[in-house]
Amino acid sequence: MTSYTAFRVERNEDKTYSRSVVELDSSDLPEGEVTIEVHYSSLNYKDALSATGSPGVTRNFPHTPGIDAAGVVLASDDDGFAVGDEVIAIGFDLGMGTSGGYGQQIRVPAGWVVRRPTGLSLRDAMILGTAGFTAALCVHKLEQAGMTPASGPVLVTGASGGVGSVAVMLLAKLGYEVAAVTGKPEAQDLLRRIGATEFLTREEATQGTDRPMLKERWGGVVDTVGGDILFNGLKSLRYGCSLAACGLVASPLLPGASVLPFILRNVNLLGVDSVQLPLDDKRLIWEKLAGAWVLPELEALATPITLDTLSEHLDKILAGQMVGRGLVVIKD
Ligand SMILES: NC(=O)c1ccc[n+]([C@@H]2O[C@H](COP(=O)([O-])OP(=O)(O)OC[C@H]3O[C@@H](n4cnc5c(N)ncnc54)[C@H](OP(=O)(O)O)[C@@H]3O)[C@@H](O)[C@H]2O)c1
Repeated sequence: MTSYTAFRVERNEDKTYSRSVVELDSSDLPEGEVTIEVHYSSLNYKDALSATGSPGVTRNFPHTPGIDAAGVVLASDDDGFAVGDEVIAIGFDLGMGTSGGYGQQIRVPAGWVVRRPTGLSLRDAMILGTAGFTAALCVHKLEQAGMTPASGPVLVTGASGGVGSVAVMLLAKLGYEVAAVTGKPEAQDLLRRIGATEFLTREEATQGTDRPMLKERWGGVVDTVGGDILFNGLKSLRYGCSLAACGLVASPLLPGASVLPFILRNVNLLGVDSVQLPLDDKRLIWEKLAGAWVLPELEALATPITLDTLSEHLDKILAGQMVGRGLVVIKD
């Protein structure tokens, strides 16, 4: 039994939620084969939904959010992991119904854990976190569907956010021409530095929503926002190209959708889920991010956050104001 520090969210009687940094006891950790000392976690949009009681994410409180964790194995009942192994856990139920990475310790099923791949530090793994992992998964799925740099420029929406900024950086590294939709003019310098060469405002990205089809422009789209921008993206794909849809910060809907882009331009709408993605597929994406897709400039995207400064950053990401990735530093 040891005590550990965690960022805890409580539901009050008036159905508001309060947040504080508290001391907890490891005997309160849930069942699981692998106990991990968390060194880093990260800030994702979903963490803010969890911390504000969004019922689709977290129903039971008090709760420790944090859908991502990277650290060192403290105890293991699974033959695949030994004390001292450096590991990464993202997705599944971590930080949703199960105590998450915003605490110094987690205990999880072995089936949620991958060993840190050689070539990727724990810190860089959590600068990426679920958002960066999902950006890579989008690019992976687009390439599996045939996208190459010769397909044409790739549009990234919500470009200054977590998924968006890593997608811009990765696509540029892989030789793609990248166009960025951003609502933050002040983020253009950063986006240009990490590889975007063309910019659209959100208003430009929603022009022509009433038209059945738009001019063929994109060789691929990574969409993190949903709604009108998603449907416009589909309507302006070049013939045979694909859009990877992973987010809903603007809307969970596909308003005005029609089958026309599919049956006239042979385009594909690819769904992307990092949460329940089988562990072998997760391992493959992490290995890419540690090898051929390693991003040496990741630190440029990171805003370091501690458990004490986490609350303000949760509000910021919920308001769409974060730029790049929030890295939650628990033990440096
Ligand atoms: N499917 C999955 O497995 C998976 C995994 C990770 C994340 N996601 C989802 O992906 C989305 C992005 O996550 P994230 O962690 O990257 O969040 P984030 O860091 O907050 O980034 C979202 C970005 O979207 C833009 N945006 C915000 N509000 C908008 C609006 N009303 N209309 C248009 N654009 C808006 C902003 O970028 P600009 O200011 O640059 O426009 C914002 O920075 C979320 O919906 C999240 O739940 C899904």
